Amino acid sequence: MPAQPLRVLVTCALVLGLAHPVRSARNYGDEEFRLEHGHDGKDVFWAPTPDAMVTLMLQTAKVTPADIVHDLGAGDGRIPIAAARAFGARAVGIEYSPEIAALARRNVKRAGLEGRVAIVVGDIFVEDFSAATVVTMFLTPVLNHKLRPLLLQMKPGTRIVSHAFDMGDWQPDAKIATENAEGFFWIVPAQVAGDWSLRLPGEAAPTRLQLQQAYQQVSGTLTLGERSVAVAGRLAGATLHFDYARPDGTTATVTATATADGRRLVGQQKHPQAPGSVRGERR
Ligand SMILES: C[S@@+](CC[C@H](N)C(=O)[O-])C[C@H]1O[C@@H](n2cnc3c(N)ncnc32)[C@H](O)[C@@H]1O
Repeated sequence: MPAQPLRVLVTCALVLGLAHPVRSARNYGDEEFRLEHGHDGKDVFWAPTPDAMVTLMLQTAKVTPADIVHDLGAGDGRIPIAAARAFGARAVGIEYSPEIAALARRNVKRAGLEGRVAIVVGDIFVEDFSAATVVTMFLTPVLNHKLRPLLLQMKPGTRIVSHAFDMGDWQPDAKIATENAEGFFWIVPAQVAGDWSLRLPGEAAPTRLQLQQAYQQVSGTLTLGERSVAVAGRLAGATLHFDYARPDGTTATVTATATADGRRLVGQQKHPQAPGSVRGERR
């Protein structure tokens, strides 16, 4: 082929990116295993949570060295590694794909965090993550919905952060966002629905508190002698907050924490004339 047409052909090939067929997809793996966006997982393929969102998720959950963070579908281990490295927590990543889990283990080793981070090869619907104080995830709306009953059975106060996807009608306690990602944060509420006998300051006899609950939203009726008043409140983990109207028309604010067995409430009432301790037990 004459030189001129050959040069034109090579130039065209370079412009079209054909001369050097480099793979455009980024390798998030290492020399042993190439990991790209979309790598097959069991219930969801692999994609990474951006570093800024990883940090914001762990900050929002207020992770400390006292925490045990479990990442459900851990991928290359970036969330458990960050939880241990930047927040001092112990962390566990559960990952179904053996080769992705092996990469995560190598990443943990390279970070020098083998003593604080464990990568478990397993299925998030089989492995026990009930010891977690913080659960993180980047899954799908369907998987979040499937996990929801398990998460709601966790210890009240357990913090949950999901990159990208919500939990349907379980409203988040906070929404978070970085420049290119969003996330959702929940605190597992205690189960306080039911019939309570409550001792309130300024009331001679125990009052009756009947509560309904939808996740962290609480509503019900407080019966003070002959009079019943509506209460609307909110749970932050095991701690219930509600206001009620006293017979004189003023508002009192109750903050009471459910005990671990869920049978008692212990807290305080704020009110100018009737402040003091609140005690409740299930009727
Ligand atoms: C979207 S990636 C998120 C990875 C990592 N958590 C992050 O935020 O960067 C989801 C991961 O879940 C894994 N996975 C999918 N189904 C799973 C299951 N049933 N049990 C455990 N891991 C699973 C996939 O292999 C993939 O690595």
